[in-house]
Amino acid sequence: MKEFIQSLPKVELHLHLEGTLEPELMFELAKRNHIDIPFNSIAEVRGAYSFHNLQSFLDIYFQGANVLINEQDFFDLTWAYLLRCQDDNVLHTEVFFDPQTHTERGISFETVINGIHRALVQGTTELGISSKLIMCFLRHLDEESAFKTLQQAQRHQDKIVAVGLDSSEIGHPPAKFERVFKQAINLGFLTVAHAGEEGEASNISEALNLLKISRIDHGVRCSEDEELVKQLVRERIPLTVCPLSNIKLKVFDSMEQHNIVDLLRRGVCVTINSDDPAYFGGYMVNNFLAVVNAHPINKAEIAQFTFNAIEASFVNKHEKERLR
Ligand code: ADE
Ligand code: ZN
Repeated sequence: MKEFIQSLPKVELHLHLEGTLEPELMFELAKRNHIDIPFNSIAEVRGAYSFHNLQSFLDIYFQGANVLINEQDFFDLTWAYLLRCQDDNVLHTEVFFDPQTHTERGISFETVINGIHRALVQGTTELGISSKLIMCFLRHLDEESAFKTLQQAQRHQDKIVAVGLDSSEIGHPPAKFERVFKQAINLGFLTVAHAGEEGEASNISEALNLLKISRIDHGVRCSEDEELVKQLVRERIPLTVCPLSNIKLKVFDSMEQHNIVDLLRRGVCVTINSDDPAYFGGYMVNNFLAVVNAHPINKAEIAQFTFNAIEASFVNKHEKERLR
C-alpha cells in the first residue's frame, strides 16, 4: 500500500505556504535576517508543536512567519515546498498565502508575491509541477483590512486565481466578509473559504450562499447536517480535507474517528491535503498513509481522492486531461 500511495499521482488543493516553514529553514532565516526566535534548538521547536485547538496553532504559526522578511525568503519557502511535492509525486498544487500576516508587520505585498510567484514559475519549468495561487484573508482582522488587501492584489491578478478565508473560524463567520467577496467576484477572482473546520456546519452553508465559494476548505463538520451532506453530493461541491491537521488540532479525537472515508463512500467530492505540513507531521504521502492506516480502504477508493482533486481543481479542461 505504501508503494501504491507513493507512486499515485496527486493534486493538492489546501496548503498554506506559511505552514510549510520547517524548523530548519526557520532557524536559517532567523540567522540570515537577525531575528530573535524563542527557541534554542530544532528539537525545541518541534516540541512546541503540540496544539489543543486551532487558535493554539495559529499563535505559533503567526510567530513563525516573523522570520520571513525578503523576497528571497518567500522564494526559499515556496521552493522547499515544491521539492516536497516532487518527493510525494504531487503533479499540481493550489497554494494559499496570507498577505496580511506580512503586510501587518511592514513587509510589502510585492515582496511576498514576487518571491512566491518566482518559485512557482520555476517549479513549472524545472520540476514540471503546475500550480495556482490563492490569496487568503485573515478572518480575525476586519473588513477594511481585507478590502485593502484585495486592492493590493489587483495589480497581481495575473498571478492570483482565487481569494480565500482562513484563521480563527469561531467568532468570525463568513457573513463578515460578504461584501469583500462580492467585490472579489466582480473583479474576476474565484472564491474558496475555510468553513466547518472548528466552526459549525452552518458556516459551510453560509459560505456557499453568501461568499459563492467553488469549494470548501475542511468542511468536515458537514456531517452534523444531513441535508447539507445531500446538497454537497448532489451539487458535487468539493471539500479540501486535511486529515493530519484535523487530528493535531483536535477536530477529531483519532484518525479512526475521522469521517473522510465515510464522506467519500457517500459520494461527497472529498480530497486529501496537508494544510500546514511543517506543523502537523507530514506532506501529502503522510496524509494519505494516515487515512489508509486507520481505515480499511481499497486502491480504487484511494485513487478516487486524486480524481476528486482533479475535478475540484481550478485548471482548465485541457489541463484536467493531462492530470488524469
Ligand atoms: N491557517 C493556516 N492553517 C489554518 C487552518 N487549518 N485553519 C484556519 N486557518 C489556517
Ligand atoms: Zn487551512
